[in-house]
Amino acid sequence: MKRIGIILCTMFALELLGLTALTSMNSEAEAGKKLSFRRHIWPTFRQYCVRCHKPRWKGRGKKRKKIKAAGGLNLKTWSIAYKNIVDQPSKQAQEGYNIVTTSEPALSYLYYKLVGNHKNPNVKGKGKRMPSKRRRLAAWRINRIVKWIQQGAKK
Ligand code: HEC
Repeated sequence: MKRIGIILCTMFALELLGLTALTSMNSEAEAGKKLSFRRHIWPTFRQYCVRCHKPRWKGRGKKRKKIKAAGGLNLKTWSIAYKNIVDQPSKQAQEGYNIVTTSEPALSYLYYKLVGNHKNPNVKGKGKRMPSKRRRLAAWRINRIVKWIQQGAKK
């Protein structure tokens, strides 16, 4: 009897663990969660994009000169990045595609650049898939960006 009790207790504990794992997966799927640029998207940008997408200095002494952010797109801080992507036209894509078009992932050049489908005949983009020279972002990161755009690309 005692042993059965212990087994049941263990099963119950496992069930609880399973449940918490499920709930955290649900929140990861972000069913109803409101996504914010600063909290949910910026960490990805900071990790994978800022390295190239910020103005920096090169050389020493008289030869020291300022280099523009890659692609003319400055993503140096979260607020600069937000201002430069949301409802801002892309320099590469066909007219009508902003880097991020609020509520419209399909009109957001960022999405195509991340997937690598930016040269398709509608978008007519240029250059490389982003982050260039690196592996494609994990699917959950791209999905989260799409969802954030769908939700209105809030700060
Ligand atoms: C190794 C350097 C490098 C990294 C890392 C990088 N980029 Fe870029 N990015 C560039 C360069 C260079 C260009 C311009 C040429 C091109 O598009 O290939 C560019 C262009 C872009 C453009 C097009 C701008 C426009 O006006 O249409 C977007 C959008 C962009 N990058 C987003 C990102 C994002 C988001 C990340 C991170 C996930 C990222 N990049 C990571 C170098 C980089």
